[in-house]
Formats: sequence, structure tokens, C-alpha cells
Amino acid sequence: MSETKQTSGGKKRIENLLLAADSKAKTPPIWLAGNGDRETGLQALVPAQRDWLKGSGWRPDAGSVALLPGEDGAIAGAVLGLGSTKDPSAIAMLVGALPGKLPEGKYHLAGPVQDPELAATAWAMGAYGFGYYKAKSKSSHPKLKLPTSVDAKVVERIAGAVYLGRDLINRPASDMGPDELEQAARKLAKTHRAAVKVTKGEELTKKFPMIEAVGRASTRKPRLIDFSWGKRNAPKITLVGKGICFDTGGLNLKPGGSMALRKKDMGGAAAVLSLASMIMDAKLNVRLRVLVPAAENSVSGNAFRPGDVLASRKGLSVEIGNTDAEGRLVLADALSLADDEKPEILVSMATLTGAARVALGPDLPPLYCDDDEIAEGVLASAARVADPLWRMPFWEPYDKLLKSDVADVNHISSGPFAGSITAALFLKRFVEKAGAYLHFDIFGWVPSAKPAKPKGGEPQGARALFEFFRGKYG
Ligand code: BES
Ligand code: MN
Ligand code: ZN
Repeated sequence: MSETKQTSGGKKRIENLLLAADSKAKTPPIWLAGNGDRETGLQALVPAQRDWLKGSGWRPDAGSVALLPGEDGAIAGAVLGLGSTKDPSAIAMLVGALPGKLPEGKYHLAGPVQDPELAATAWAMGAYGFGYYKAKSKSSHPKLKLPTSVDAKVVERIAGAVYLGRDLINRPASDMGPDELEQAARKLAKTHRAAVKVTKGEELTKKFPMIEAVGRASTRKPRLIDFSWGKRNAPKITLVGKGICFDTGGLNLKPGGSMALRKKDMGGAAAVLSLASMIMDAKLNVRLRVLVPAAENSVSGNAFRPGDVLASRKGLSVEIGNTDAEGRLVLADALSLADDEKPEILVSMATLTGAARVALGPDLPPLYCDDDEIAEGVLASAARVADPLWRMPFWEPYDKLLKSDVADVNHISSGPFAGSITAALFLKRFVEKAGAYLHFDIFGWVPSAKPAKPKGGEPQGARALFEFFRGKYG
């Protein structure tokens, strides 16, 4: 596989999907019609087209597409079904069903759409494919003509960053170890002239003992990737992403079924890199810092063990209850470094617990944040761009479940309850000085394809947070 193929950034791929607003090309219209407005939504069609839809048995189910024939036999347009949804952002996301269902060609949205920027972004998101390992991958797609109100740069910025996050997750662990994750971070940092520092080897052992402990059983060495961007005196935002390139569970080895998808255990790192790409490309007025503890949780004679007591960067001793709860260990050391700088906003994103999926399923990541105003702002942004989140509490009474008989803290609760909350509470022990702390327990994966969301890696939460930051620091 060639380097260019691996890393051909998202933006170029997006450009090929869009047509400038001033293009003179002929573009058939795409109409939108929901269940309730079967008749009214299709009023712009000529009677023969309406009859065609009726006669062919087409129904405006969410994401269903019908082509409309013209008198000359060419494609006169298309209709996108909206089902019963009335939510404007959900409607915009349905536009993501179109690139996979329309024949090659140029189109425009005849509407009505309330959020054309989100609709165009969904179009680009829906056209994503992961073709690196195929001899032949699909290279041409239908193009969408942008309305004049939409800035192509913004669509390329957001969808391009989503492509980046998806690519990083989708690449198998053999091709996305700590080294490759570092290369990806360096490449992004270089594009935006951010300053990179990577800590590994002896220095890592000394300064970040838990990152070293989790990663030391792998032949691919653990490290802390750290880059900073923006004006020194701008508000400080720090993003920390879990970069476990493969999670075997360690000595508490996962059974085969649970190990199958563990290449995506760097999904938090992918999400923060995706978000960082949006922030830097938009030149938001922030001092951005990105921290990615990158490691592979492997099995070997030197692996850390259940019952071990680890030193941590913060100085707290940590009893290991289960080597499969590795993510919170690497994050804790990175968070304590981040916290020292007292950022205005500190964010962690991680594929942290199976328990979050039991609670809310794969499509709705929990967001933890004690600051009501910020939490509500982020949730509103999440709804606006259809990158959904659900607030869960840092529930202090459960903090005592992390008590250890031998160390300052146990990294897991011994009981079966509230696994996502106790993981979040463990992380919070390492954050004291940040203005606000937000933690996302993401799944990082779309298990079955939906409009705008092909099956595979997904940097959940990145678009939601960018929408929030854009409002605050744009
Ligand atoms: N990365 C996993 C959690 C995970 C599993 C996220 C599946 C998304 C999908 C994490 O490292 C892990 O293994 N967590 C354990 C923690 C337990 C041992 C306390 C879990 O959730 O089972
Ligand atoms: Mn694990
Ligand atoms: Zn993990």
C-alpha cells in the first residue's frame, strides 16, 4: 500500500463530490417528501412523474430514493423519502443516503432543507468508502451542486475531518500501531504548523508510568503524542484521546468474540484528531493542545498483571483490578499532564467501556460534564448537527467503589454496576485544575449502515464539539 493512498486527506476526496454554486452545468433537482406530505411535497412534479411514483409503488420511507424519468429518457430528477421525521437535522442527515443510491451525475437539492450546510456535509459523509485494501475501489460518485448560502470550505473541513477519523479507525491494527498513529498525528500537526513532542522509552517510564505499563508487553512501543497549536494567550483547550491501537485485554485476555473489533480502541484518538483538524482548519481563536497516549494492550512475559500496583504521573498509586481496563490508565497519566496547565476546557474521548453500550447502545455516547452551562451547550450543538450525545453523571456517591485495600485507588469497581460512571469517576480523580472537564465514552463504530453513516469507524462527538467550539471561539 502506498503512503499517498494511506493518507490522501479527506479534503480532496470531498472536493470531488461537490459542484460549485456558480457551476453552469445542468443539474436535475432532488425533491424531498415525507409520509405526511406525500401530495404536497411532490407538487412541483409534473403529473406523469407523480403517476410514475404511484404506479411504481414508491413510498417516502426515510432514506428511500426514486428516480424521475424525463420525456427524453434522461434523468429528470429524484425524490428522497423522509419517512415521518420532522427534525431538521435528521432530515439533513437523510441526504447522506443519496450518493450511494443515485447514478453518477450532477444534482442539486430542490428542497426544502432547513440546514443546507448540514445536508451537504451529510452528502459527503454518505459518499465515504474505505477502499485502501481493495484492488479496485469506487472512485467516482454523483456530485451535489451547493447552494450559494453554503461555503464549500466548511463542508470540506467538516466532512474531510470525518473521513480522517474514519480512515484511522478502519485501518487494521497491523497497519495502525503506535508508530502509525504518531505519523498520522505528525502529519496533521505539520499541515497546520503545530509543534509536536513525543515521549517514549525511558522518559516515558519515568514520567508516565501507567502508559508504559499498559504498552510494554507489545513489540510496538508505547508513547505519549503531544501537539500544540494557536496563539499562546488564546483560551486553552486540551483534547485527550485514548489511543489503544489494539486491545487484547492483556493478561485478562478477551475471548475471541470480544476481541474481534478491538482495532477501533484508538477511536478516541481518531475523534480528537478529527476534531483538532476542524478546529485548526477553521483557525478558531483557541490555544489547542492534543494529547494521545498511544499503546497496544498485549500479552507477554513482561505484561502488567492483575493485582499489580502502578505508580502514576500524578503520584497516586493505582491497584490493577483487571488489565482489560487499560484505557483509563493511559488516559489518567495524560489527563494529569493536561490538568497542570489549567486549560479552560479539558476533553477526553475514549472507547472506554462496554457498559456505556449496555446503557445507551452504539449510537448514543455518554457525555460527562459537571458544568451545566457547557454540558447543555454541547448537547444543543450535538442535536443541531445530528451527532447525538446523552448526558450521564459523575455520580460522586459511586466514587467509593474505587476504594483499594493496598493502594490510593483501584482503577475499577469490583461490582457489576455503573461501569461507565465508575470509569469516568476514575478519570476525574486526575483532573483538579481545569476550568471544565468533559468526558466522552464513545463506541467509535457504526455497526450497520445508516444514511451519512457507512458501516465502520466513526469519530463520534467530533462534529458536535466542533459545532460548540465554533459558536464559542469562532
Ligand atoms: N475498550 C474496552 C471497552 C469497549 C469494549 C468499548 C467494547 C467499546 C466496545 C475497554 O478497554 C475494556 O475492555 N473495558 C472493560 C472494563 C472492565 C474490565 C472493567 C469492559 O468494558 O468490559
Ligand atoms: Mn480493555
Ligand atoms: Zn480498551
